[in-house]
Amino acid sequence: MEPHVANVGIATIQEPVRGELDQAFDRLQSIATADFPLIDDVNAHLQRRKGKMFRPTLLLLSARSAGTLTEREIVLSAIVELIHLATLIHDDSVDHSVLRRGQPSVNAQFSHEIAVIMGDYLYSRAIHELVLLDAREPLRIMSRVTNELTVGEMREVVAHDFLDFSEDDYEQLIQAKTASLMSGACEIGALVSGDTYREPLKRFGRYLGMAFQITDDLLDYTESEAVTGKPAAQDLREHKITLPLIAALPNMTAAERAQVEALMAHPDPSDDLIATVIHAVDQRGGIAAAREAARAFALRAEVELACLAPSPAKDALLAGIAYAIARRH
Ligand code: FPP
Ligand code: MG
Repeated sequence: MEPHVANVGIATIQEPVRGELDQAFDRLQSIATADFPLIDDVNAHLQRRKGKMFRPTLLLLSARSAGTLTEREIVLSAIVELIHLATLIHDDSVDHSVLRRGQPSVNAQFSHEIAVIMGDYLYSRAIHELVLLDAREPLRIMSRVTNELTVGEMREVVAHDFLDFSEDDYEQLIQAKTASLMSGACEIGALVSGDTYREPLKRFGRYLGMAFQITDDLLDYTESEAVTGKPAAQDLREHKITLPLIAALPNMTAAERAQVEALMAHPDPSDDLIATVIHAVDQRGGIAAAREAARAFALRAEVELACLAPSPAKDALLAGIAYAIARRH
């Protein structure tokens, strides 16, 4: 069964909170500003490419569909995006990735040292802002989430044995590194309803995040750099084991497994070897299985929204599910 909403672009999903989202972006810029030239050079570099603002969109739509959206939620959504940005800066440094959002990553444009410090700077600015807001529950949620993010990143760093990395391990990893923040964004938005919608929206964000990350991992197999704004097949190049490979492995021939083994053993696998493994993963059903897994999480996300009263914001959250699994970048 397909989630029953049509495929739409991010701009349509953002429609019910367009004005608030623009304010959140302005707010994000002013929170990030520092009285220090190098930090502002990095800020200027980062702000050249805005990003999809998907997490603040989730927070604002959750708030609007659960109750009344106020100035406080706008600031909270800016904080969530800042934390996301900080994690991406660190992640690109950890991954040695040179491209993000179609432009050089901070580690590539500046240095790894600057990427580490800038990630810390933005993260600490975000936390400071939460304290200034006196936002106790959001602070509780975000401190748990950021802790989970770091453990997720650590899980990924050590996950290199492709024969010993199960689908369960993978789910635990993407829960920690992606679903946790989306879930936290939705939960913070839902706080406008007290506890009424808190748990269902928290779960919605989690399932949506799982579907979103599985799709992200699929795009690494299926799309070019020109489409995603990130290097193609970067995961395999870095020996990252994601669902398409995990699902295909049991169906592979001994020769195909040997090619996977060769790729994983090579510090800098050739484009040919990568293309061969991608082909085998597709042939052995890995791409189809990952698509199916994303769809299954999307359906679970949809079920969680049933408790909300009809509204344009709820429709946009539903459309967000379709976006998470149908996007190409
Ligand atoms: C991207 O994964 C990684 C994350 C979203 C999590 C990164 C988390 C940290 C670096 C630790 C927490 C840091 C702070 C500041 C609290 P990916 O490499 O699969 O995605 P990509 O393809 O977009 O690079
Ligand atoms: Mg990365």
